[in-house]
Amino acid sequence: MDEVYLGPTQTTVPKIGLGTARYFGGRGVLVKGLAAGLRLIDTAESYNARGDEPGAAETLVGEELAGLWDDVFIASKISPRNLAASDVPVHARASAQRLGVEVIDLYQIHGPNPSIPIGESIGALERLVDEGLIRFIGVSNFSADQLKAAQDAARRYPIVSNQIRYNLFERDVADDVLAYCQETQVTVIAHTPLALADFDGHAGSGVLHEVSRSTGRTPAQVMLNWLVGQDGVIAIPKTDRPERVTELAGSVGWDLDAEQRRALDACA
Ligand SMILES: NC(=O)c1ccc[n+]([C@@H]2O[C@H](COP(=O)([O-])OP(=O)(O)OC[C@H]3O[C@@H](n4cnc5c(N)ncnc54)[C@H](OP(=O)(O)O)[C@@H]3O)[C@@H](O)[C@H]2O)c1
Repeated sequence: MDEVYLGPTQTTVPKIGLGTARYFGGRGVLVKGLAAGLRLIDTAESYNARGDEPGAAETLVGEELAGLWDDVFIASKISPRNLAASDVPVHARASAQRLGVEVIDLYQIHGPNPSIPIGESIGALERLVDEGLIRFIGVSNFSADQLKAAQDAARRYPIVSNQIRYNLFERDVADDVLAYCQETQVTVIAHTPLALADFDGHAGSGVLHEVSRSTGRTPAQVMLNWLVGQDGVIAIPKTDRPERVTELAGSVGWDLDAEQRRALDACA
């Protein structure tokens, strides 16, 4: 699996990881993913796998990856309502405990909360880095302006990533936050990178299928290759099916040619 540097750090992460929103587990997907190099696992305190209470996804991820943590880069998220300075350590510790880890590699603010000053939240996260409970600070669903405010508030550690909805068919972010992230060395973690597997309902669907035919790759592989072929972009598709792990891992290690990339660039 190809890896890239996370933000301005010397730590690398795979271009393709695995998401766990609405992940039901129990079929060995995460372990198989790990073996295929999909070792960035993304979760959140709010994800309720199996329809259980919030936090259940972290518990499930913890169960499935127990004993394998040396090989995993674990990313979790704190919900916007929990961003007060006094709440941040409580929620980070609870996430680490559910996962069964001593350190969360990447701890992300799940979304902005305008009613809590960003400096307060970032300060609390920086103290968690000092403590060793988290390694890196990230954000999610931040606009360029919101990201800039977070960067200005970060006194001692960089904001290494911004996880945003970005895929072949949904490019709202492309002109604003994507360019800003690239300029300031913030890794874009593309969530919903397969557009929820709706390959047929978009204006660009014909182009996707055409490139899929001409490359001999599946639509999912083409969508992911197009995404992570961009500077500073990685992706975290979600699957519950072990048989799809090899397909997802095969999204990298080959290149779209210039004409195919141009056609995909222009299709949305
Ligand atoms: N930060 C945020 O606010 C936020 C929001 C949404 C998502 N996320 C993160 O991003 C991750 C992925 O996003 P997502 O789950 O919303 O959407 P997604 O990855 O775009 O799509 C998931 C869907 O694609 C299907 N799929 C997976 N691999 C496939 C393949 N090779 N061919 C055909 N279909 C395939 C899955 O079905 P099967 O399971 O049946 O394979 C599932 O229905 C989440 O799990 C979460 O970690 C973050």
